[in-house]
Formats: sequence, C-alpha cells, structure tokens
Amino acid sequence: MTDAQIEWGDSFLIGIEELDYEHKVLINDINRLHLELARHDEKSEIEKCLGDIYARMQAHFALEEHVMKEHQYRFYDEHKREHEGLLDSYSEYMMQILNDSAVTFSNSIEDTLRRWVLNHILNSDKKMSLMVQAKGLSK
Ligand code: FEO
Repeated sequence: MTDAQIEWGDSFLIGIEELDYEHKVLINDINRLHLELARHDEKSEIEKCLGDIYARMQAHFALEEHVMKEHQYRFYDEHKREHEGLLDSYSEYMMQILNDSAVTFSNSIEDTLRRWVLNHILNSDKKMSLMVQAKGLSK
C-alpha cells in the first residue's frame, strides 16, 4: 500500500467544471478507502466505501460519456472501453472481498485504483477535454 494519500492539486484539473468536481470527490473517496485500510476498519465499513466508489465511478463515467457524445468526441469508443475495463476489474475485486468471510484481501486494489484513476485523469481525460473544449463547451 502506498503511504500517502492523493493530494488534490490544479494539475488534476481538466477544465470541465462538473467533471473536475467529480474527479475531486472520487479522489476523496479513494483517500477515505486508504485511511480505512490503514486503520484496519471493520469489513462492513470497507465494503461500504468500496460500494460508494463503484457507484461514484459509474455515475461519473455516465456523465463523462454524455459530454463526449454531445461533442462527438473522436475517441469516444476507446475512452468508454477504458471506463468499462476499470468497472469490470473493480467488480471482480469487490466480489472477491464480499465472498471472503474475513478481510484478507491485499491492498492491491487500492494501489490499482489509485494508479488507474490518476493515469486516466491525467492522460485520457485531459486529452478528451482539450478536444471537447476546442469544439466549444456550450454545444
Ligand atoms: Fe473522468 Fe474518463 O473518467
């Protein structure tokens, strides 16, 4: 498990206000998971946190895909596949945890999640935002 929480900063901003807001909330949730794992909180708490993150990601991806479609983003399919890939992997991890009577899972899910989210925001989302903004956000 990584030692530090993710510190939100301007470098995460992609320039689309509602998506930036959601990214910030998602990162806060991942930090919450980090704390709960570090404190060895009750399994029920960790499961709730994992569920919250899943719901948050689903809602965020739906909004972002709507924005991409509205602006006829050229790499929509590729970007959507990245979203689906994370949700699939995340669901598998969640099922493993839910089927485990004790919280014996490693913290690799947290590391994977952190790495993926940061890479995705800093690369794919930024690329998308630049192209969407070039077309005009008010469309
Ligand atoms: Fe902000 Fe493509 O997820």
